[in-house]
Amino acid sequence: MGSRPEPDTHSATAPGGMPWSDNFLLGYEPMDAVHREFVQLVDQLLRSADVDLYERLESFERHAQAHFSEERRLMESTQYPGSECHIDEHNAVLASVNQVLPLLKAGRTDIARSLVAELARWFPQHAQYMDSSVAQWLVRRATGAYPLVFRHRDAR
Ligand SMILES: [Fe+2]
Ligand SMILES: [Fe+2]
Repeated sequence: MGSRPEPDTHSATAPGGMPWSDNFLLGYEPMDAVHREFVQLVDQLLRSADVDLYERLESFERHAQAHFSEERRLMESTQYPGSECHIDEHNAVLASVNQVLPLLKAGRTDIARSLVAELARWFPQHAQYMDSSVAQWLVRRATGAYPLVFRHRDAR
């Protein structure tokens, strides 16, 4: 499998959606589980027919609300330093989704598709820089050690 040429799956322009990559793993299982769901929902949005886009974007909005408020709770309940810009990023994503939903309802699938492509671009960076710091913080508090991440050999 490892020798097969692969497209750049971190790019929003990758054909066929947004496959999960073990490079997204943070080593804190509750966050990793939520992130699998995030990637799955964005993948479904990228592959969606126009007729299903609205319902899927609504599902994504519900996921994002829960995902972001849980991370906020984890940060605030442990006095995580620097939660402010992390929460700002979450809020910006939610604001964009809530802005686009009524436009999509009015038929602007083009705007919805741009948003979805932007979500696919946003997530790997957010997970790598912001969420991974939170995961390390939580694991270190609990165990005194950095999280261990086991990735498949051909993880991209
Ligand atoms: Fe997250
Ligand atoms: Fe986050």
